[in-house]
Amino acid sequence: MSGTSLLVADDLRKSFGATPALDGASMEVDAGEIVAVMGPSGSGKSTLLHCVAGIVRPDSGRVFYGGREISLLRDAERSALRRGQFGFVFQFGQLVPELTCLENVALPLRLERMRRRAAERQAAQWLERLEVGDVAGKRPGEVSGGQGQRVAVARALVTSPKVIFADEPTGALDSLNGERVMRLLTAAARETHAAVVLVTHEARVAAYSDREIVVRDGRTRDMARAVS
Ligand SMILES: Nc1ncnc2c1ncn2[C@@H]1O[C@H](COP(=O)(O)OP(=O)(O)OP(=O)(O)O)[C@@H](O)[C@H]1O
Ligand SMILES: [Mg+2]
Repeated sequence: MSGTSLLVADDLRKSFGATPALDGASMEVDAGEIVAVMGPSGSGKSTLLHCVAGIVRPDSGRVFYGGREISLLRDAERSALRRGQFGFVFQFGQLVPELTCLENVALPLRLERMRRRAAERQAAQWLERLEVGDVAGKRPGEVSGGQGQRVAVARALVTSPKVIFADEPTGALDSLNGERVMRLLTAAARETHAAVVLVTHEARVAAYSDREIVVRDGRTRDMARAVS
């Protein structure tokens, strides 16, 4: 797999003060692959995701995207990479409260200087695809948790990212809404050949992935290879 993987993290270490969050974590993600990152609370899952996505710089270790070492990129290059190639979904959608759901989904395209009408047309299509076309004109405060997360997924997908990073995307939802978000997210990822790095501690959510990586005390284990 090495050398051909879209995303490679090699021996990452990261401490917050005296607290080691990552202590030799490695992972690889192929194009179009859906990988679940599992492990107990505090084990380092979010820190790993932030390092792999170029949001947090590890103390040591390297991260490669498409063969380029992203820790060597300048800040502006790294944010351009994030905007152009990555999509993000977090536990709480983090939608902009002042904007309508349609405007929220159109926002990443507007930041790429797409004209309003074209951006909103694409945004509307993604809202339909995520089965929330009916909330387009509402603000995030006026929709349910499940609807808000589906809007957030639409916003993550609207730029056709190569990788979607999702940190507990169903963590604040009941199981029925969680299943719906996961079904729609993974179907859309498969259709657009986007890889997904999915942080979760729920086996039910991880079941949507192709492969699981377990994090414990800041170290990773690939389940496919850890079976004894
Ligand atoms: N910004 C920060 N400042 C200080 N300590 C942090 C910070 N972020 C994470 N940590 C610490 O690093 C360790 C790993 O945290 P992390 O958030 O990566 O865990 P997690 O596996 O995502 O947990 P959870 O399942 O609860 O979200 C924990 O001990 C945590 O307290
Ligand atoms: Mg976390």
